[in-house]
Amino acid sequence: MDSCSVMPAAGDLQGRHILLGLTGGVACYKSAELCRLLIKAGATVQVMMTEAACQFITPVTMQALSGRPVVLSQWDARTADNMPHIHLGRDADLILLAPCSADFIARLVQGRADELLSLTCLARPAGKPLLIAPAMNREMYAHPATQRNLAQVAADGAQVLGVGHGDQACGEVGDGRMLEPEQLLQAVVAWFSPKVLAGQQVLVTAGPTFEAIDPVRGITNHSSGKMGFAIARAAQEAGATVKLVAGPVHLPTPEGVTRIDVQSARQMLEAVRLHLPEYGIFVATAAVADWRPAEAAEHKIKKDGSGQVPAMAFVENPDILATVAQTPQAQNGALFCVGFAAESQDLEANAQAKRVRKQVPLLVGNIGPATFGKDDNALLLVDAEGTTELPHASKRVLAQQLVAEIARRLPDTRSA
Ligand code: C5P
Repeated sequence: MDSCSVMPAAGDLQGRHILLGLTGGVACYKSAELCRLLIKAGATVQVMMTEAACQFITPVTMQALSGRPVVLSQWDARTADNMPHIHLGRDADLILLAPCSADFIARLVQGRADELLSLTCLARPAGKPLLIAPAMNREMYAHPATQRNLAQVAADGAQVLGVGHGDQACGEVGDGRMLEPEQLLQAVVAWFSPKVLAGQQVLVTAGPTFEAIDPVRGITNHSSGKMGFAIARAAQEAGATVKLVAGPVHLPTPEGVTRIDVQSARQMLEAVRLHLPEYGIFVATAAVADWRPAEAAEHKIKKDGSGQVPAMAFVENPDILATVAQTPQAQNGALFCVGFAAESQDLEANAQAKRVRKQVPLLVGNIGPATFGKDDNALLLVDAEGTTELPHASKRVLAQQLVAEIARRLPDTRSA
């Protein structure tokens, strides 16, 4: 699964009410998990199912997971005035159709209103968000009629989410799978996120680097990459185009983020240099190795039984952040640079000194041993004005707060 499940999403959708519409498709089985994830993230969920959807998963399952009776028919008399198509649409902060079949997309295009779900979509007030997660066989998805219909529903105001690629229930392989529940959750969370970085391009480095000693050994550190990945995700949700240059980490790529994997500090610098011209914000979270072996042996260094240990010389790695901060792009204000400092003591003094030394406008200090590998942290932001504390919270929440702090500090000419 190519999605980011690193941070617990609890609270991301607190207070939001989602109308989850299921239409006929095998992917309905994934909607059970989606419903669970939405609720875990703090949302309340009202499930609405078409007759065809009930062929694939029962309303009983969806009722148990959502904690609410599922609505199936426009003739459902439980609504006092018998107008569920009006009230259930109005009550929701967002309507999510997952899975959305080819037939249902065609129904939306035509403005059909002969069953409850399409009727509710047609009756939704202007501006009520409608997110569509298509799910169908690859030939159906690629068919000009479907593509035409998808373009039309998008033009009519719906947000059409992508589809996955891979094995399909019919045995074929291709585009048309419904996105995974975690990806759909991210799309919903992203929809609600304030777009404080709309139109911005953000380049993030994350994780450790690996400096080879020989083909099987190397020097690295305990950085998990979680903070950098959380920042990439939060920036993407805030409307930015995000590229992530990642050292060796075991983390899935956040939805909508482009990722470049590297090993060594020099590879990381090369990737950053290559892409930098397109970016306006650079966030260096990577724990780059300060030194590397002067020479990496071509073949494995053997223990020869003599008790002698191999002599090893080191050379200093390039400082990626300092190098970037020296570029004309950063010096003339077209690139806003953010550095991190993992300290073990005197956080404020050390972070401020590092900010001045590296010539970056914003440096984020944290206590190194307290953060490596963890899901939560506390940050101290240091800039020319002084300090701002981001108290102990999950890295997910801290990343969202940091993104807002970065947006606030962008020169007026560049802010969204
Ligand atoms: O000097 P120190 O490693 O403490 O600085 C930390 C900051 O500098 C982080 O933002 C880190 O990503 C960045 N850095 C870098 N290249 C290095 C060393 C650190 O980009 N070689």
